[in-house]
Amino acid sequence: MNKNWWKYFFKPLTAEVMFKPRLGIQTENEVKKVLSEINSTKKLNILDLCCGEGRHSHLFAKKHQTTGLDYTKDFLKVAKLKTPEKIKKNLKFVHGDMKLTSKYFDKNSFDLVTSLYNSYGYFDKRSDDFKVLTEVYNVLKPRGYFVINTLNGSGVAHHLGDHKPTGVGNEVEKNVFVLDNAYLNKKEMRTYSDWKIIDARKSKAKIFRGHFMQNVYTNTELKTLLKKAGFKIVKTWGALHGTEFDEKTSWHQTILAQKIQNL
Ligand SMILES: C[S@@+](CC[C@H](N)C(=O)[O-])C[C@H]1O[C@@H](n2cnc3c(N)ncnc32)[C@H](O)[C@@H]1O
Repeated sequence: MNKNWWKYFFKPLTAEVMFKPRLGIQTENEVKKVLSEINSTKKLNILDLCCGEGRHSHLFAKKHQTTGLDYTKDFLKVAKLKTPEKIKKNLKFVHGDMKLTSKYFDKNSFDLVTSLYNSYGYFDKRSDDFKVLTEVYNVLKPRGYFVINTLNGSGVAHHLGDHKPTGVGNEVEKNVFVLDNAYLNKKEMRTYSDWKIIDARKSKAKIFRGHFMQNVYTNTELKTLLKKAGFKIVKTWGALHGTEFDEKTSWHQTILAQKIQNL
């Protein structure tokens, strides 16, 4: 597998199966949950890291100054095209790599940074994953918040066997099928996934094959890394829209952390 898989995996068809089914009420609930936890009455300056096609950024920007950052140029194009006229003054999109975040923004710029829907753990070197946390720390204002939602290592180990690929097949919309074969390498604590997307909406079906790997962190590990980067842990919940977190069985963890001081 290519070490920099994240440069190649994200294509318009992947976006269609990842983002489209989550538009509408699901995304509204996710944004509502994040903003309710921050519980601020003022207009915030928000950075939506790994914003994809901007499904969360578009909703944040209804009330808040928002910047979406993503590496995939095709996604940013769609995010810009989908921006309604009336929120354009509140929203911009920046092309960039999450581990270089402080290259694009001044220190102490944002009240809230988000990394939503499993956009963490993508790098071959775990030190690069950690760098994302310190970069976020740098661009946050003192007392600013970071919401990170990613896989929960213990939950993934509970659900996926070691070197035993677990296959899941779904028809995500009529005549679009996703076959996902994934396993967890327990020694590396890294998942390896093979995706086949079959788009049979036209008479000549298209097949996309993509591979990705993701480092997984237990809740204790991720909290420890966040603290090492300078954060205080405020709260943990499970799926982004607000389910209970169970350390042993939850697939996802969402952590609200706060920048406590300048390093
Ligand atoms: C699972 S998607 C989540 C997108 C978005 N947060 C959402 O929930 O709709 C992960 C996103 O991370 C982006 N990405 C991958 N590697 C990146 C990197 N090194 N820097 C910035 N963005 C990256 C991808 O292009 C993709 O949009």
